Amino acid sequence: MSKHDDERPKDKRKKSPDADMPRVVPIGALRSARETPKRLAGPTAFGDDVREEAWLRPAALDDFVGQPLVREQMSIFLAAAAKRGEAMDHILFHGPPGLGKTTLASIVAHEMGVEITHTSGPVLEKPLDLAGLLTNLGPRGILFVDEIHRIPAIVEEYLYSALEDYTLDIMLDRGTSARSMKLTLDPFTLIGATTRAGLLTAPMRARFGVTLRMDFYTHEDLRRIVVRSATILGTRIVDEAAHEIARRSRGTPRVANRLLRRVRDFALVKADGIVTLPVTREALRLLEVDERGLDEMDRRFLEALIDRYDGGPVGLQSLGVVMGEDSGTLEDVYEPFLVQEGFVRRTARGREATKLAYTHLGRPVPARLRAAEGVAEHPELPL
Ligand SMILES: Nc1ncnc2c1ncn2[C@@H]1O[C@H](COP(=O)(O)OP(=O)(O)OP(=O)(O)O)[C@@H](O)[C@H]1O
Ligand SMILES: [Mg+2]
Repeated sequence: MSKHDDERPKDKRKKSPDADMPRVVPIGALRSARETPKRLAGPTAFGDDVREEAWLRPAALDDFVGQPLVREQMSIFLAAAAKRGEAMDHILFHGPPGLGKTTLASIVAHEMGVEITHTSGPVLEKPLDLAGLLTNLGPRGILFVDEIHRIPAIVEEYLYSALEDYTLDIMLDRGTSARSMKLTLDPFTLIGATTRAGLLTAPMRARFGVTLRMDFYTHEDLRRIVVRSATILGTRIVDEAAHEIARRSRGTPRVANRLLRRVRDFALVKADGIVTLPVTREALRLLEVDERGLDEMDRRFLEALIDRYDGGPVGLQSLGVVMGEDSGTLEDVYEPFLVQEGFVRRTARGREATKLAYTHLGRPVPARLRAAEGVAEHPELPL
């Protein structure tokens, strides 16, 4: 494991040091969950996610649930690379947080039987940081760069030649004693991950042979992930409960696993440890997890749209100002789920709240939406 990867254990199957300790954590877990209810359904990692995710992360492509298009393409690229006996093309994974980008990078390494070194864009401050990592990768090794859109420009320029012809021109010293040194690298694969593909520069983008977009998961895929994780955690769960958790997980495996862990704790304390549907409903009610899995930011997005802008249309810039959030983050991280679930509509004039957004927040539906959507819902009725 790389020293740049302290918090991302590579060997997912290795037991953690406290693996054999009795599981007596529920009270604390519930307390911390209650303290952070707003973020419980949020897609970004927090609290014990990082440690627990290492356990639940599938190591092989066959165990990776959902994303059929991504999986199919990956298996072809992997097979081709194995046949050629070469390093795989550079790959870019992009999409909202918690959908499996880091997981897939580890799967590529596992399937190719090569080493992977994890780092992230902002950590690579100087060209020499990059040189250090690239010269230490094993044969056909993988450099995984999370948040690749945050690589400083100076480092990014050095990366170009490394990606194209496996060379690095490093400047040693400065001023009159400056010399440049050309390093030849072993073939390697760069895997970049980003939630903000729009912020990647055009030359950087062009250097990836494969670009794969991660989508939100279906309820059925999330249900399978919940059942798989429950098995790993040694938790008994009934199918309806797995479905209920899946339904409220914001299309995101990270959220599904987090809710499962919380509900498991609740079942241990309040019931006999078996995760049933009533136990699940009660736990999620206590944890204030939305029926549709929306998190606090999602609700603030809809509230800003409805209460401040009368349901729109309004531009993301304006919504960003009201919410105190960068409009790019709204566009790449929050909006896609709201659009997919039918809460928000993108129109040429801006974002609009749908009838569902009003009813979900318990606001009266404006007449214009009642009329317009009523017609759309019953097109067969004579007008
Ligand atoms: N397809 C999948 N099948 C099973 N589990 C998955 C899948 N995708 C993700 N997970 C689970 O969700 C967790 C979060 O996934 P991961 O860390 O790969 O997301 P990410 O896209 O890298 O998120 P971020 O953008 O925050 O870095 C993983 O630990 C893993 O347990
Ligand atoms: Mg990640």
